[in-house]
Amino acid sequence: MPNLRLPGDNIARAPLPYGEVGYLMPVTYLDNAATSFPKPESVYQKLDQFARQTLANPGRTSHKMALTAEQEIHQTRHLLNQLFRGENSDHFVFTLNCTDSLNMAMKGVLKKGDHVITTNLEHNSISRPLEALKDQGLITLTRVTADAEGTVSVEAVRQAFTPQTSLVAMTHASNVLGTIQPVGEVGALVREKNALLLVDAAQTAGVIPIDVREMNIDLLALPGHKALLGPTGTGVLYSGPRVNLHAWREGGTGGDSMSRLQPEEYPFHMEGGTPNVLGLAGLRAGIEFVMEKGLSKIASHENALVEKLIDYLQKRGDCTLYGHLDASRRVGTLSFSHPAFDSPDLAAMLDTSFDIAVRPGMHCSPYIHQSLGTAPHGTVRVSPGIFNTEQDIDRLTEALSQILG
Ligand code: ALA
Repeated sequence: MPNLRLPGDNIARAPLPYGEVGYLMPVTYLDNAATSFPKPESVYQKLDQFARQTLANPGRTSHKMALTAEQEIHQTRHLLNQLFRGENSDHFVFTLNCTDSLNMAMKGVLKKGDHVITTNLEHNSISRPLEALKDQGLITLTRVTADAEGTVSVEAVRQAFTPQTSLVAMTHASNVLGTIQPVGEVGALVREKNALLLVDAAQTAGVIPIDVREMNIDLLALPGHKALLGPTGTGVLYSGPRVNLHAWREGGTGGDSMSRLQPEEYPFHMEGGTPNVLGLAGLRAGIEFVMEKGLSKIASHENALVEKLIDYLQKRGDCTLYGHLDASRRVGTLSFSHPAFDSPDLAAMLDTSFDIAVRPGMHCSPYIHQSLGTAPHGTVRVSPGIFNTEQDIDRLTEALSQILG
């Protein structure tokens, strides 16, 4: 049994640039694109307090505890509607994670004969369901290719349209490169073509402003556990007024019990079964934290840490850096590789010898790695979060200097 030092042991605190108390941990966690860690103290407190006092089944009965649990979920929806400028908070339905949301969206709107446009930046959570629907003979699929720096052009999306195109499914920012995509411009095009736009906001919800109305986003899928700082097991799917989703799972909704079929009313139409009310209470605290800090402050903090790493890697001169290096065109995520080390080996050395957590490999996004020529070993991805500090990047660069020479 290895002697693991866990993050959270002997936590030392250090001031962060915007005045918040942060963590210096025995493990330097730089894998926030996979899930954010640590969470704000208010999230831990909320989870503890809610689990001890209020963990009843929301909406299933009218006793005080159940009503309080229901109110908690309602508040989480309300905050999501505020943050993403939705039409109706009841159209933010809760899911397990972003993959769940994307599956519910695509399988909820597509029908036989539809054509779908997607991109080579996508995570398998978009690519695999679409490839499976294609193999079943239900849809045809066009995969638009990003340019060498990791951006899909609106013109390329325009050219991919056919009379049967009903859906464009794309990421807001690549989980490999961090590059931000022109979702608002694609939204205008998709509206002009009378199709639907599904956006995977796994890497942007909580750091880049998203206005579903202004950006003409019909379906927005997002995780609660990344930049929104909630716990794992929380995801969200927003559907706008142009969308008619099939119920994903039928079951109990707490009310309308005599209805033979799943109620049409939202959020119940998409939310059969007991929700993850504890996780959603934690998510509420995470969203409140993010809204209080402000997205631009969070994004610039994370980007500044990536800039520091870019400076170091560029000065070394022996690593390849991928994606736009311009901070305004990326979220705080950087992929790089070194010619002498396979990325998984380099990440394993960082972990075992230096207690630094990064994510190597293909990042579940095979098509962009194929385009970059980085398959099958992929890249080393570094993704700082709101609680990382300059010292964390110093630790990483010192470790890289020791390994790479
Ligand atoms: N999709 C997550 C990542 O990119 C898990 O790491």
